[in-house]
Amino acid sequence: MSEGPVYWPPESMDVPSAAGVCLLSFVWLAASCGGSGTEPRSEDPTIQERPPAPWPLEAFPDLPEIMNDVPEARLELGRLLYYDPVLSIDNQTACATCHSELWGMGDGIPRGVGHGAGLDAGPRRAGPNTLRRNSPALFNLAFRSSLLWDGRAETLEEQALMPILNDQELGSDEKALIAELSAIPEYVERFADAFPEDPGVTIDNLSAALAAYERTFVSNRATYDGYAEGRFGLMNNEQIDGMFRFAEMGCDDCHAPPLFESETFANRNVPEVDGVVDHGLEERTALGEDRGEFRTPTLRNLAATEPYFHNGSIQLMSDAVRHELEQSGLPFTDDDARLILLFIDKTLRDESNSAIRPLEVPSGLPLPIDPAGVTPRGGEGS
Ligand code: HEC
Ligand code: HEC
Repeated sequence: MSEGPVYWPPESMDVPSAAGVCLLSFVWLAASCGGSGTEPRSEDPTIQERPPAPWPLEAFPDLPEIMNDVPEARLELGRLLYYDPVLSIDNQTACATCHSELWGMGDGIPRGVGHGAGLDAGPRRAGPNTLRRNSPALFNLAFRSSLLWDGRAETLEEQALMPILNDQELGSDEKALIAELSAIPEYVERFADAFPEDPGVTIDNLSAALAAYERTFVSNRATYDGYAEGRFGLMNNEQIDGMFRFAEMGCDDCHAPPLFESETFANRNVPEVDGVVDHGLEERTALGEDRGEFRTPTLRNLAATEPYFHNGSIQLMSDAVRHELEQSGLPFTDDDARLILLFIDKTLRDESNSAIRPLEVPSGLPLPIDPAGVTPRGGEGS
């Protein structure tokens, strides 16, 4: 599979006539526009050439309309709430405890740990409220049509209230929380500025501000994104080889470019964790065939989001990739694994729009302490 030149399209594959391809003016690609797309590229089979990518190159999608004209005051309110432990029953836990910019918008531990574990965030964190699932990286949420590992939330507004009210996460009571926020003059003022049409410290405004802020975590400036826009010098040959092997192994069926994720649910036979029962999609659909299926996560910023899978059962990025290669059922070599990891790790990195930690929050409470803030974070290749 790894030998010889790689041609696109592979014989077995029907190529959709993607309009995006026609916009790009490569000689070969242009020739396939309007045609069936399956003509051989060259009369001479000894000429070894390949198109720039194994799939029709598509630039990163435009930001959704809902992100237009959001008042700056609403984004700033969302940011402060995201970091403010006032949202938790113990006044020590915040969204950022489990979704920190220092851990790729995750938390660096296998499964999230909710209130009752003190101010520590990151790998030192341990406590009574250990969840069943790995805290996902919150990148590119604005493009999603389903959220959570089993897709059970549709909107960020709806999702934001779940951890706030969940017994094991922030554990708050809606009425008590609104009363607490309303007693902080800075919040009263900031809610009014953020929602001029409907001023007030309400649960709907709270979730709307958090959702608006979360939508700004866009990862669209990775090396691959520049390459997809036609700056082909950005990726070296090994990275390009890795991209072709990624496609040959079928990884793009679910981790679909340009987001490298999808609303596909699949059972990847991830190792079980002692004491954790999780039937995944089946818990939402009540269909036996959905047991063990989880949503396809993004491969962007993979190095920063260890450990991996819905239950955090695989620690290292290289082992996660190898596990997925084994799942493909196709033969592969160590070199395939190396090149695919190289492609993912080096060309799909962009954490530039992570959350931005404020120095202080309106409640005046101390922010969660994260050791990654003082020591460089570990992880392979970072
Ligand atoms: C105790 C750790 C913890 C805290 C605190 C926490 N989360 Fe999460 N978050 C998780 C875990 C674990 C999941 C995955 C849960 C699942 O899929 O069932 C998740 C999932 C999410 C998702 C869906 C991501 C995706 O890729 O589908 C969003 C959005 C999110 N959290 C936002 C927030 C916000 C906003 C807050 C604060 C109001 C917050 N979280 C607080 C652990 C946490
Ligand atoms: C049939 C769809 C599908 C295919 C094909 C697929 N994946 Fe996945 N991938 C998933 C799903 C679903 C998960 C999450 C599974 C879980 O946690 O139980 C996942 C998880 C991962 C993870 C862990 C990401 C994280 O943040 O936890 C990596 C890395 C990964 N896949 C790489 C690959 C590679 C490399 C290939 C090609 C060899 C591939 N995948 C093929 C669906 C797929």
